[in-house]
Amino acid sequence: MATVVLSAASPATPALQALARMLDTDLRADGEHDITTFDLASTRLAYCQGEFDCWVKTPGLCRAHDAEASIVQAVHDADRLVLLDVVTFGGHSYTLKRAQDRLICLISPFFEKRAALTHHEARYERMPSQYVLGWMPKADASTIDTWTALADANALNMLAPRVGAAVVDDASRDAWPARIRELLVSTAVPGASIHGRPPLRAAMLDAAAGDPAAAPSPPRTVAVVVGSAKAAGTSVSEALARAICARLTAHGLTAELHVATEFLRDDRARATAQAVAAADLFLLVSPLYVDAFPALATHALEAVAAARADSAAPARFATLVNCGFPEPEHTRTALSIARHFATAAGYTWAGGLPLGGGGAINPATPLDAQHGPAEHVKRALDLAMPCLARGESMPAAAIEAMAASAMPDVAYRIAGDLGWRYRAYKNGLAQADLRARPLG
Ligand SMILES: Cc1cc2nc3c(=O)[nH]c(=O)nc-3n(C[C@H](O)[C@H](O)[C@H](O)COP(=O)(O)O)c2cc1C
Repeated sequence: MATVVLSAASPATPALQALARMLDTDLRADGEHDITTFDLASTRLAYCQGEFDCWVKTPGLCRAHDAEASIVQAVHDADRLVLLDVVTFGGHSYTLKRAQDRLICLISPFFEKRAALTHHEARYERMPSQYVLGWMPKADASTIDTWTALADANALNMLAPRVGAAVVDDASRDAWPARIRELLVSTAVPGASIHGRPPLRAAMLDAAAGDPAAAPSPPRTVAVVVGSAKAAGTSVSEALARAICARLTAHGLTAELHVATEFLRDDRARATAQAVAAADLFLLVSPLYVDAFPALATHALEAVAAARADSAAPARFATLVNCGFPEPEHTRTALSIARHFATAAGYTWAGGLPLGGGGAINPATPLDAQHGPAEHVKRALDLAMPCLARGESMPAAAIEAMAASAMPDVAYRIAGDLGWRYRAYKNGLAQADLRARPLG
């Protein structure tokens, strides 16, 4: 058996380092000697830029040439993948997410339905089982639920045959070895606990609903952050963010528009984090990457939480998450992460808007000039933005409108698959290349 460990442990997280050592000891005691550990905290890695070249230009290979190539090959060759991370708002940290997002070259662009929702087909015959081991200083049941649900959704997405998830905390150090053992012997099948779409819908609506007890407080300052990694003017998130800013302006507010790359720029990162942290309303408009926020958006959330750690003035946080599969239910884990972020960073959770079928929105045309699949999106924003401008939470009607399907799921899957074929053709590839297996 071969095991790959993607570890976010570093001297800044001594507890995670201790956990990493225990994990290694346990694996070896169990007879595993083929262990490859990638220390992500000390590895320079690009973040996924979201352009899908690894599907339609160089199928199976990322266009960024760095240590991720060895990570992808090792994961491809492994029987077992262990993700070791600081539980970050219920999901993964930026350190780990950079590597995780770029694993999508291991799956195919083509759509199929699994466990009640659309997913991607396999590229290779076999994929490793996935086990996620998280540490957080103090246990929190709701955050652990999100971590566990995310692990299952990720494993399902990546066609892992088995899945396991565990979280340990500082109060139960003696129990860590037993928790590691339980995790590694898990034989749970990804998606086995999913019984139809309605419970996923309920979980999404539950996560999306803003805090009902919060008293309205109209914002004076608003920061809108685009979480997409795509170049300026080419993302669905940016088109949505601009439509949001236009509506807030119509209600007398000035919204500062930021992009998540600003949080990585030496000359701007600190000032951007402080400006967003100081705004009365922070709105993150982001795509979904591997059932959560992209690495880049996660980094922005980490930076804003850090900037608010010392003096968090009362403020609200809301999000709009668009995903590439037709069903908005895929956004449920990201919405839960958004909610945990709000709590961790001292925000009132003002709710989330879940958008499925993001591929039906044209990023090159202003949203308000689009029709057809954009109609329910515009309606949802028309319902949501006046409430946010008055300092209220997202109304249920806006969440429902955003989550409406613009077309039957099967039609979206057919159009999507044709879209991948067309992009491959435009890139001069043969159609069979889309199913290439460059790693053997
Ligand atoms: C690395 C990566 C991972 C993705 N993971 C998911 C996913 O788990 N579920 C999903 O529905 N869409 C997923 N998508 C699709 C994006 O959410 C979708 O293409 C979205 O519309 C992109 O928005 P943007 O143009 O604002 O970047 C993923 C895309 C990328 C690049």
